[in-house]
Amino acid sequence: MNEDAGIDELLEAARGARDRAYAPYSRFPIGAAVESDAGVFAGANVENAAYPSGICAERVAAGSAVAAGARRIEAVAVVSGAGGPITPCGQCRQFLSEFGPGMLVVSEGTDGTRGRWTLSELLPEAFGPKDVEPSGR
Ligand code: THU
Repeated sequence: MNEDAGIDELLEAARGARDRAYAPYSRFPIGAAVESDAGVFAGANVENAAYPSGICAERVAAGSAVAAGARRIEAVAVVSGAGGPITPCGQCRQFLSEFGPGMLVVSEGTDGTRGRWTLSELLPEAFGPKDVEPSGR
């Protein structure tokens, strides 16, 4: 598969999800889409009147993938309404790392600028499954 075509498709899925975001408090809708071993899954941020109960787009997308049977995520695309590309928040970096510490992270701003990283660049020396193995303690 042409990798950029795959990324375009993933960004398009993220844009579709962003349009369905529930972000009445921050007014900062975000969409995300993951490419996983169970296919492509999208998600949007879902806020709550009890503010900390809201959840980010990336965790909705990754959680949907895992609930559908995925165990490996190869790439995540993120889009917001900001001009430039944004990166996943710290909590999302940790959540995503469980399913692909080296995954590709792509983000596009409304101005068309793209950012591209590996998750391990964004979350170096990550805590992961190996750290909770009994032999590792
Ligand atoms: N948000 C995401 O969905 N993903 C991120 O990586 C950063 C923040 C959401 C949380 C909240 O609904 C809104 O963006 C503003 O912080």
